[in-house]
Amino acid sequence: MLRPLKAGFIGTGFIGSVHARAALQAGARLAGVVSSTPERSQAAAQALGAARAYASAEDLIDDDGVDVVHICTPNHLHAPLAVRALAAGKHVICEKPLALTSAEAAGLVEAANSSGRIATVPFVYRYYPLVREARERLHSGKAGRLRLMHGSYLQDWLLREDDDNWRVDAALGGASRAFADIGSHWCDLAQFISQQSIVRVSARKLIAVPRRHRGDGASSFTGAATAGGTSLVDTEDAVLVHFETAEGVLGSVTVSQVSPGRKNRLWIELDASDESLVFNQEEPETLWCGRRESATVLRRDPAQLTAAGGRMATLPAGHPEGYASCFEAFVGDTYAAIHTGEVPEGLPTFADGLAAASITDAVLASADSGQWIDVDRHIN
Ligand SMILES: NC(=O)c1ccc[n+]([C@@H]2O[C@H](COP(=O)([O-])OP(=O)(O)OC[C@H]3O[C@@H](n4cnc5c(N)ncnc54)[C@H](O)[C@@H]3O)[C@@H](O)[C@H]2O)c1
Repeated sequence: MLRPLKAGFIGTGFIGSVHARAALQAGARLAGVVSSTPERSQAAAQALGAARAYASAEDLIDDDGVDVVHICTPNHLHAPLAVRALAAGKHVICEKPLALTSAEAAGLVEAANSSGRIATVPFVYRYYPLVREARERLHSGKAGRLRLMHGSYLQDWLLREDDDNWRVDAALGGASRAFADIGSHWCDLAQFISQQSIVRVSARKLIAVPRRHRGDGASSFTGAATAGGTSLVDTEDAVLVHFETAEGVLGSVTVSQVSPGRKNRLWIELDASDESLVFNQEEPETLWCGRRESATVLRRDPAQLTAAGGRMATLPAGHPEGYASCFEAFVGDTYAAIHTGEVPEGLPTFADGLAAASITDAVLASADSGQWIDVDRHIN
């Protein structure tokens, strides 16, 4: 039997807790956690059932009893913590965006490659069974030749002036907010399903709420800021992007954190010569497959899925699976790679984190210059 991995978690907010539950599900022991204060670290260790609270991120990383480090902090800490964890010989799961710039992300890919450790990024929407099914329909030729990709990723939790979060502050979240935070997921998914790379972009960005009340780092998705003065916002609330892939497929995506009523609506359509495929993250049990003669709604039924889709389905048809199941499958695949050294199909690695950071840099450069910009993938 495999020795259970010992996992440590840096950052225990919204996603840190999701990571910890997925790690347990994948058979790990929760070696310990660290948050932004000793009190938060203690409370999180207790709530998650972790063995201990560490005094600092460095203590957690340097502990010989930790095999794999999950980095779930605000964005500005991702790169320095990942570099340190790899140097300490740990396997790393680092949240997106992998780094604040693509140059920094390229350095992390190098560090991961030379460490020989497994280093992954939770682009977890890849783990919906019907996403795999859509990918398979394109790959097998069943859908025909891909021509267009389009869609949106819309949220509303930063709609108002008193909605605040560390992501709004460029020093903590990075120069891009909406695109780096959620547009990166959409682009990763588009590239994953199509198996094509976005190579050129033309973008416009919007700061819809130019001043915000600043809180004390309000929790993600609650938004509420404490009263006080307002400060100027310099990260975008929304972005429109036109893009082109290396194979000449055209696409567009609208990304927004200020769309009333939209919670986490990642929606993508891929139009091929015989079939259009539509996936909506908020209704992930179905895939719409449109043909000129008729349209069908494919349901997540393990008995009907291909091997690629079926591998991701854990429950029988009619028993809805969701976001948490994707996270469990992603962490399970990362741990399988650590145990066996074999990388399961579709595992998002630091190279995919770099690809997303490279697109983000190009989107910002295009929005600033008004020009089409080539994506610098940092491939030597
Ligand atoms: N893959 C996904 O689907 C997904 C979803 C949500 C968030 N994320 C990413 O996860 C990261 C965290 O986002 P969140 O929504 O959980 O934020 P959050 O604000 O809910 O949690 C951040 C956590 O980091 C801790 N922290 C802050 N500074 C720290 C420090 N110096 N040392 C240790 N801990 C520190 C905070 O106390 C908190 O526990 C972000 O990078 C975000 O982009 C990814």
